[in-house]
Order: sequence, then structure tokens, then C-alpha cells
Amino acid sequence: MLILGIETSCDETAVALVGDQGVALNDVRSQEEAHRPYGGVVPEVASREHVRWLMPMVDRALAAAPAEIDAVAHTAGPGLVGCLVVGAATANAVAFATGKPVMAVNHLEGHVLSPLIENADLGFPYLCLLATGGHTQLVHARALHDYQALGSTLDDAVGECFDKVAFRLGIGYPGGARLEALAAKGDENAHELPVPMAGHPSLDLSFSGLKTAAARLIENAKDARRADIAASFQKAAVEALATKTEAAIAHTGARQVAAVGGVSRNLRLRERLQMACEAAGATLHTCSGPLCVDNAAMIAFAAHRLAGEGIVEPADPARRPADVRPRWPLSELGDAA
Ligand code: KG4
Ligand code: ZN
Repeated sequence: MLILGIETSCDETAVALVGDQGVALNDVRSQEEAHRPYGGVVPEVASREHVRWLMPMVDRALAAAPAEIDAVAHTAGPGLVGCLVVGAATANAVAFATGKPVMAVNHLEGHVLSPLIENADLGFPYLCLLATGGHTQLVHARALHDYQALGSTLDDAVGECFDKVAFRLGIGYPGGARLEALAAKGDENAHELPVPMAGHPSLDLSFSGLKTAAARLIENAKDARRADIAASFQKAAVEALATKTEAAIAHTGARQVAAVGGVSRNLRLRERLQMACEAAGATLHTCSGPLCVDNAAMIAFAAHRLAGEGIVEPADPARRPADVRPRWPLSELGDAA
């Protein structure tokens, strides 16, 4: 079974092909340049960029396909509504034109399943730290469509917090990777920033207090080295994620742990999670860079697994409205409570 995947939930236009042998194509076009003047993603600009770039990318993928595709899968949510509509309408149109069925995929399920693409030794159940620009969650992945949210951020996502602190440090947009590079030149013990929710017994997280504390430090300590601030901020953010992951490992007894999403590219975070897993006798699984950030391979892969195991029936595009769900929590998939 060969699936054409389409991902347009935010600011990456992405198309992929995933078949029985794995990922045959993973094409991503970042919209960074279009949003840079604004210091963040502008939803209307993002939708227009998807309209502009998606069809040529689909054409290229279909021309490069090693065989006829069997279905078209697209991200139906969560995400920016206008962006999701472009992906859904395009997927429906391509399915209609090729006479193939279409499938709606949850973006977060795509992220949670992404480590299965490259780690053949990973299987259910596993604990998943989902750390992106829009979401921060600890999820117990029990089976396809069966995800228990153990804890979530109560306010900002951790990636958003990296982006905002980076913007205030004047290192531009998008900020996560740039902040990590700056932090590498600094002393992470130079400033003590609060580790969010550290003493709280729940598995929920919070990043707005850390963001404000970092902003205040940038404002008030004018002669502080920016690299030291970046490193101290990164240490607190990583510590917040890692301590809650440790608590979630203890809570679930998980022996397998995955870290997914754009923030899981951060090497300081990976090292700290590795330590946590080793101490708990668990194994850490991560993805290669292109599968951490938003991509369509994870969407096509999720569709391949869900259709292959008969959990989702691909639909006839003529009978299906191109519905999208800007809010679509993982816990609403399948029969999970
Ligand atoms: O998963 P992703 O591509 O998109 C969403 O679904 O949101 O994640 C993007 C986020 C951005 O906030 C970006 O700043 C962050 O991931 N990010 C990083 C790093 N690389 C990307 N954060 C920290 N360190 C990094 N190296
Ligand atoms: Zn994402």
C-alpha cells in the first residue's frame, strides 16, 4: 500500500510518500522567510503560501512515485483552520482526480507515531514526550488511536517559549535552533531561572512564567551576556520537561520512552532525557531531524498503519466533505476516554 501524505497544519508545506518499504519521499518546504518579517507565523500568510506551493509539490511526488498510490492522507487537525482547509481540499481533489480514497489524520498522532518510522525495536506501549511549537504533552501511547494524555502545558508550548525568548534576545525567527546555538557559547549556571511546576505533583507543565522571567532578565540585566541568558533559559526549560518525564516514567512504569516534535531536536534535552531513561532502566527513542519537525511522512505513515490495521477506512472523496478540526485532542481518537 502506497500513501500520498499532505501536511499543512501550520507553516510547513509538506508532501510525502510512504509505502510498505517505508518512506519513499519526504518533501518539506518551510515558510520561514515569508513569516520572518513578522517574528512569528501569520495564519493568512501561511494559508496563501500553502495554496502557492502545495500543488507543484504534489505533482512532483506523483511523478516520482515508485508505483500507483493507493490513498491520499492529509492532516485534518489540530492546526490553523485556513491552512488545514488548503490541505484537506487539495487531498480531496487529488483523491477525486486519481480515483483513490482519502484519509484524515490527526497531526499529534502523526508526531506520536513518528519514532516508529525509524526505530524498528520500538512498539506499544510507550511514553511519549510531545514537544512542539504548538503543543507540549506527556502521552501514554498504548496502541494506535489509544492515547492517554498524562499531562499537558497549562499555558504556552515549550517551542513557543523558545521562539519568544529568542525573539527578545534579538536572534530572530524561528528561534529554537538559534537559541540552542547561542546557549552552546554560554554558562547555563550564570542565572537561576525558575523550573516551571517543579514542586507540583501533577504531570502538567507551564512555560509562561519562565518566559516572563527570561524576558525580565533580558530587560533588566543589560550587561549580561546573551549567551549566558540563553543557556540558563535552556537549562530551566529542559529541566522542566525532563523532571515531568521522569515522573511520568515512574507513574506508568514505561520501559520505552520517545521524544518527538521540533523541540526534541535540542541536544541538551536529548542528553538530559537519556540520563533520565538510563536511571529508570528505560530506552529513549528519538527521530532524525526531518522527522522531528512538521513533515508529511509522519502523516502518511500514520495513515499507512491505521488503514493497514483496519482502524480507519479510507473514504470516497465524492461522499466526504473536506472537514477539518482546528482543535482535535489525542484523547478523542478511537475509544479512549
Ligand atoms: O514540531 P514543529 O516543527 O512544529 C509544530 O508542530 O509546532 O516544532 C517547531 C518548534 C519551534 O517552536 C522551534 O523553535 C522548535 O520546535 N525547535 C527547537 C529546536 N529546533 C526547533 N527548540 C529547541 N531547540 C531546538 N534545537
Ligand atoms: Zn507539529
